[in-house]
Amino acid sequence: MIIHFKRSLVLILGLTLLIGCAKAPVDVVDEEAELRAKVAQLIQAERNNFTSTDALEIPLGSVLSGGGSRPMDDSIEGWKRMVSFYQEQLEIPLIYGVDAVHGHNNLKGATLFPHNIGLGAANNPELVRQIGIATGKEVKATGIHWNFSPTLAVVQDVRWGRAYESFSEDPQRVSALGLAYIQGLQSTGIAATAKHFLADGGTSFNTGSLGYLIDQGDAQLSEEELRRVHLFPYLSAINEGDVLTVMVSFSSVNGEKMHGSKYWISDVLKEELGFKGLVISDWEAIHQLEGSLYQQIVTAINAGVDLLMQPNNWKDSVDRLYRAVKNNDISMERIDDAIARINYVKAELGLFDDSFTPESADVVYSDTHKQLAREAVSQSLVLLKNNRNVLPLEKNTKILLIGPGSDNAGLANGGWTYSWQGESSGVNIPHATTLKMAFESVANEHQGMITTDLSKLNEVDVVVLALAELPYAEGVGDARDLSLSGHMMHPDNQAAIDFAKSINKPVITILTSGRPRVITNELNDWDAFVMAWLYGSEAQGITDVLYGDKNFSGTLPITWPKTSDTSTVSTQKADRDTSNVLFEYGFGLRYE
Ligand code: GLC
Repeated sequence: MIIHFKRSLVLILGLTLLIGCAKAPVDVVDEEAELRAKVAQLIQAERNNFTSTDALEIPLGSVLSGGGSRPMDDSIEGWKRMVSFYQEQLEIPLIYGVDAVHGHNNLKGATLFPHNIGLGAANNPELVRQIGIATGKEVKATGIHWNFSPTLAVVQDVRWGRAYESFSEDPQRVSALGLAYIQGLQSTGIAATAKHFLADGGTSFNTGSLGYLIDQGDAQLSEEELRRVHLFPYLSAINEGDVLTVMVSFSSVNGEKMHGSKYWISDVLKEELGFKGLVISDWEAIHQLEGSLYQQIVTAINAGVDLLMQPNNWKDSVDRLYRAVKNNDISMERIDDAIARINYVKAELGLFDDSFTPESADVVYSDTHKQLAREAVSQSLVLLKNNRNVLPLEKNTKILLIGPGSDNAGLANGGWTYSWQGESSGVNIPHATTLKMAFESVANEHQGMITTDLSKLNEVDVVVLALAELPYAEGVGDARDLSLSGHMMHPDNQAAIDFAKSINKPVITILTSGRPRVITNELNDWDAFVMAWLYGSEAQGITDVLYGDKNFSGTLPITWPKTSDTSTVSTQKADRDTSNVLFEYGFGLRYE
């Protein structure tokens, strides 16, 4: 009997254990699934690697389009369908981000405004606010929620490939224009991003990461200079602009990678400045932190990053983050805080109550936006030389137009245009007006003449020499040589420069580039010199001023150097080398 009893007891115990185990795995599985789904909210994938089926399995908190990443059907409707396709799979709506840094530049046919450096030259906050509104509307027309813009970099060395994404070397100018853009953009219901926190524009030459010269480098600065120059624009962005997101910089401060800096991200940005939105990491930037992916994630999240931009290895990132929470290397309190910040932003955009309503497609490249862009171009131009008042031109002037900047919308737009590195021709920017087209539209109406035929030199009154940089983005643009034949200058510039030097006609030079170039010697051969920056899709804004319908109003947002060693020309440098200054910060001529 005993044996039977024992056997029954064993059987009951076994069954209990089995049920218990059976019961336990069900609970454990639910808990695990719940925690995985929870931590997935802190991960952002790139659309190319994240399908709607993935979204069903692992409900990420966010998806992005990297530069140039667009749906197969890249129409306005196609963009909207892509975003809603993700949303339909998700309980918690995701937030979708793009880089619309000079208009909705991923969208074919969007209005393309001057890059920030040109807006810095215009130095008109109301104009920039309007551009923020126009950009927000065109982004919203495609169903996108979030714009990784504006860059609040305070560029100190123009050899940096991202100099054109900065408004200025002066923190006050950056602060005023950055605030205006944030207020304009967010007034349309699109989240703005103050980036890249902190001191992305203050890194030293030859300290770059990934083989770059200066990009993602080390800002070797005192805390006083870091706060006075590089932190300053974030104060108004947060206090007055209520900016909803901040993106961390790839770069370092005094040897510490910003993505691992609890002091700057949590103690200063969140505690001291009271930033209540979400902090996102930059593109796989945490991979530059010490240790394994697991350790990188622990470091970044514990430093205060709330959302990890892990475009490719998002699945592994969810897994490591899950394990870090299970191991209590990241506290549940930190996870809950990050989710609260992410949800705060989503709620502000109306993603939870479904009040996020796309704009009408009519706003894209509307006449209003086109006129605004044309006005921005005019205000961004800086007149640096005008001997014998060769400008303004009469509208019946006979012009020989030479140089690579004459008829190429790709060069006029630079990086972050249709693709990450930009377009070296205008083939993908069909709606744009080039310089040649703008000149022709005036000449045709006023019996003028525009020709590019060198043999007609004797028939013309003046030569317009249109020089240009090739497009670039980020570290690709980092330059050791800023001369007109130096890094990222179009190969056709030199022949045009040499031709213009050889003739006996007035020469008006227009430079299309994202930063000052070294023109110290060539300037003597030119009667007039106009800096047009990277002006976007509306070149009529240039001819409006060259023919005198409008006056110049732009001023240099950055010091113009004599040589390529630009480490100490900024007005912000205590050791500023004024002997290396060709044109002062703030300089710009006007018509009398
Ligand atoms: C890039 C840039 C950042 C951009 C992000 C997403 O590497 O550093 O400005 O917003 O990736 O494209």
